[in-house]
Amino acid sequence: MTTKKRILSGMRPTGQLHLGNYHGALENWVKMQEDYDCFFFIADWHALTSDYEDPSRIADYVKDMMLDWLSAGLSPEQSTLFVQSHVKEHAELFLLLSMITPVPWLERNPTYKDQIVQLEKKDLSTFGFLGYPVLQAADIIMYKADGVPVGVDQVPHVEITREIARRFNYFYGKVFPEPDAVLTPTPKILGLDRRKMSKSYNNAIFLSDAPDEIRKKVSQMITDPDRARKSDPGNPVICNVFDFHKLYSPGETVQEVEGQCCSAGIGCVQCKKMMAENLVEYLTPMRERRIYYESRPETVAEIIVTGGDKARRVSQATMEEVRSAIRI
Ligand code: TRP
Ligand code: SF4
Repeated sequence: MTTKKRILSGMRPTGQLHLGNYHGALENWVKMQEDYDCFFFIADWHALTSDYEDPSRIADYVKDMMLDWLSAGLSPEQSTLFVQSHVKEHAELFLLLSMITPVPWLERNPTYKDQIVQLEKKDLSTFGFLGYPVLQAADIIMYKADGVPVGVDQVPHVEITREIARRFNYFYGKVFPEPDAVLTPTPKILGLDRRKMSKSYNNAIFLSDAPDEIRKKVSQMITDPDRARKSDPGNPVICNVFDFHKLYSPGETVQEVEGQCCSAGIGCVQCKKMMAENLVEYLTPMRERRIYYESRPETVAEIIVTGGDKARRVSQATMEEVRSAIRI
């Protein structure tokens, strides 16, 4: 019997994961595997809420994401790794929760309002997109998760989940615990151009980038913009490369770079080269695991099936309780 607390989290399959995704979520998930009973899943139905017009890439993204996860160190022995659409119970619970969720709760959702404005090129005036948090609530309470590790942007969704769980329990008797959001601490890490690292900005370093690709990208990073010449002293505090050093270089190097930058003892080209080598080394275990899994597609397929089976066993048990609580 495990007495570990259960956590659950998910990601939409939107393409290769980058360093920002890693430090913002995955790294933390990998660490949590020791201490928690973990459920991590790929939210392919959620991807469909905004990409319904052209879903052709979703299946490939699901595979890429599982490969990224395994490379990053998520372990199919320790955690339950699965794909949302493989566990149809999520759809049933979503339907039932939709009966009790007041529409104003969804219309008030800050992410909903943001996305409608941000993704203006897509028509998001659909029932499915409005209901995004209801599906997410089903994902979470299905497993009676104690905690949901997420970034700040997802906190409103966990809050709606708690409200939906409370309302369900009020109508039909206590079936669901109210999950807590577990905020992921995120180190500051910007893209090559100093904007937020994002696939769509074309400024990201991917976990799957080859060493030479990493070196090339690092050489293009914008440093302290006020440092025009090598003889000018730099300011590491405002330099993105320095933030990378803090993540990937040994403590002595960080100190040395700091001193040498301020005294114009080191140029940015050399500084970046040092950092690139440390980053390449940091990613080596991931690269090795990727090579392992990439050459064994049947193993990855099996991991996805096994994870789905495990998740389904839990969700079937929950759905028995749900159906008898609603008496339908
Ligand atoms: N909405 C989440 C995101 O975009 C993905 C997600 C779907 C999720 N279901 C979830 C996260 C359940 C946590 C728990 O990042
Ligand atoms: Fe940034 Fe390094 Fe250049 Fe200083 S020397 S500005 S830390 S890249």
